[in-house]
Amino acid sequence: MTTVSSRGQTPEPPTSLGMPALPAPDYPAEVRARLEADAKEVIARYPGPRSALLPLLHLVQAEEGHVTRTGIRFCAEQLDLTTAEVTAVSTFYSMYRRKAGGDYQVGVCTNTLCAVMGGDAIFEELKEHLGVGNGETTEDGAVSLEHIECNAACDFAPVVMVNWEFFDNQTPESARQLVDDLRAGRTVEPTRGAPLCTFKETARMLAGFPDERPGAVEATGSAGPASLIGLRLAKGEVAPGRGAGHVVSPRTAGPAEEPPSGHPGEQAPPGHPSSHDAPQETSASDDQHPAGPTAEEGE
Ligand code: FES
Repeated sequence: MTTVSSRGQTPEPPTSLGMPALPAPDYPAEVRARLEADAKEVIARYPGPRSALLPLLHLVQAEEGHVTRTGIRFCAEQLDLTTAEVTAVSTFYSMYRRKAGGDYQVGVCTNTLCAVMGGDAIFEELKEHLGVGNGETTEDGAVSLEHIECNAACDFAPVVMVNWEFFDNQTPESARQLVDDLRAGRTVEPTRGAPLCTFKETARMLAGFPDERPGAVEATGSAGPASLIGLRLAKGEVAPGRGAGHVVSPRTAGPAEEPPSGHPGEQAPPGHPSSHDAPQETSASDDQHPAGPTAEEGE
């Protein structure tokens, strides 16, 4: 019914601020009981209940594939928070979906290094091939495409992530084959790490529940060789390819070795132990992970 103000004017409808309308519907009783048991287990791991918010958001995401109004209400009730507080957190982190998505979240790293190594070309290829844009999902509900920021895998650039598993050293062609395989239900193997599973299954693991697939934990692996160079340098070890040279970690340098407070533009003295002594190794020097375009990409 339209109301009329005392001045005889029809009032404007309230302005939407884009916040979820309240109250949100509850889960069906069976789902709620199951999630409450899971939430209790997660909350018990923390000294204070509100510390469990991030895993609980993954838990509700595992239920519905994204963080719904119902999921936000559930988290708030379990942790004695307001729905506004839960919404603020869930919309801050990019790993929480705010709308329904596909079984496979395909993220193309278009951060600086991956972008110049081919990430931008891969994203354009997938966008055209799948017929979807950033944050959109294919009609069959299989693949959601998105830009992602650096995943600390720059030595394997350009990197594509599927449900946060690594697919290293990709090309537009290999990425296209990857999404075709995903959509066709064919098994795809990440370059390293555990075998791939669906978005919901991944979300449940991120909530803190174990990956019970045989061999999955053992397959987790470790950092690649180029990544480990930085660790070796931090320990003051000899950098690969530097012969008998020795890089002194700034953290372990004694007072006598501390650099003088120079002026802008002043050259450091020979042997100066500073971060500028870091080796000039690049992925191009890593035989196992060459930096340049692969043969099929360049031909
Ligand atoms: S820039 Fe892509 S992983 Fe670092």
